[in-house]
Amino acid sequence: MADHHLTEHHGPTERHGVDRPLGMLAELTYRCPLHCGYCSNPVELAAYRAELTTEQWCAAITRARALGVLQLHLSGGEPLVRGDLVELVACGAQAGCYVNLVTSGLGLTRARMAALAEAGLAHVQLSVQDGTPESADRIAGTRAFHRKLAAAELVRAHQLPLTVNAVLHRGNADHVDRIAELAARLGAERLELAHTQYYGWALRNRAALLPTPAQVALAAEQVARARQRWGGVMDIVHVVADYYESQPKPCMNGWGRRQFTVAPNGDVLPCPAAAQIPGLGIENVTRRDLADIWWSGPAFERFRGTDWMRDPCRGCVRRDVDFGGCRCQAFQLLGDAAATDPVCQLSPHHDLVRQLLAPATQPAIQPLPRPSR
Ligand code: SF4
Ligand code: FES
Repeated sequence: MADHHLTEHHGPTERHGVDRPLGMLAELTYRCPLHCGYCSNPVELAAYRAELTTEQWCAAITRARALGVLQLHLSGGEPLVRGDLVELVACGAQAGCYVNLVTSGLGLTRARMAALAEAGLAHVQLSVQDGTPESADRIAGTRAFHRKLAAAELVRAHQLPLTVNAVLHRGNADHVDRIAELAARLGAERLELAHTQYYGWALRNRAALLPTPAQVALAAEQVARARQRWGGVMDIVHVVADYYESQPKPCMNGWGRRQFTVAPNGDVLPCPAAAQIPGLGIENVTRRDLADIWWSGPAFERFRGTDWMRDPCRGCVRRDVDFGGCRCQAFQLLGDAAATDPVCQLSPHHDLVRQLLAPATQPAIQPLPRPSR
């Protein structure tokens, strides 16, 4: 592995009220063999074709650990597309991170799994699209289902903890029973059932992806049933359908508070969708030290804490609970990233979200498949 010539960091010191980050989401590439219409990667993939090199990623990971990061999530796109994934896992593990691979499972051969485990991989999060092959492969836009079963088997053969993740939408939100059954069969210790978050490609496909009100209710019932049935063997997490809620999600657990994302080109972001917000002053890990970006970068400072808030968030008792919701959603729906997330019932624009749900009561349409690169 390359020598990164690390030097001691003498940048800005920790500031009162800002903690060290716990997690780094390394989006190694946006290339992906799947074509899921719910993908939250950016629509403009061309801007990210120039990916960081192995040495640059490893330097960023080592810097992140020195900054305090404990959990390293290697994600994408599909991280297995990168030929240097084993090296990057080794880099994270040697630095002292808990290394989690977020993958579709496509490209996980027996030899690769052995090498990843040997390199110090600690956990695998495997996506599934549905509980049956026909539906799952239709959603993925490719024959993926059986390859995922094989990938899960390899993970379990190496005794690595496995999380199964399924994104819920119009095409599968009423199939939670069979998704949970599949996850249990795969030996998952954790199952994440997450309604689609409308960013990137998924935002473009929102009208096709929004679940019906009946599906949302049924999904919640099925989650409760799954917890009764499988709760002893799997931890089951349910991320609710945001647009149907009256209180917003505490997005990222607060902007610039716990974690950051590094995009394939090295841009350092407070959240995976932040690149769409104009004028944030996003910086790149190849041009400024990661610690400096975290402690004082303009993109991180912009929505940290509560000083940036306006009414109704400014005087609200929940402002330290949900942090005003999601900045990216406020920007997407209102063109103003400093506005209260309109999912909040106290937002003067809450009706807009209700109106956006209209397609959910119309006949289903097919989402556009996400391009592979
Ligand atoms: Fe959260 Fe702001 Fe709504 Fe209060 S007004 S609940 S802080 S989004
Ligand atoms: Fe960017 Fe919520 S996704 S703040």
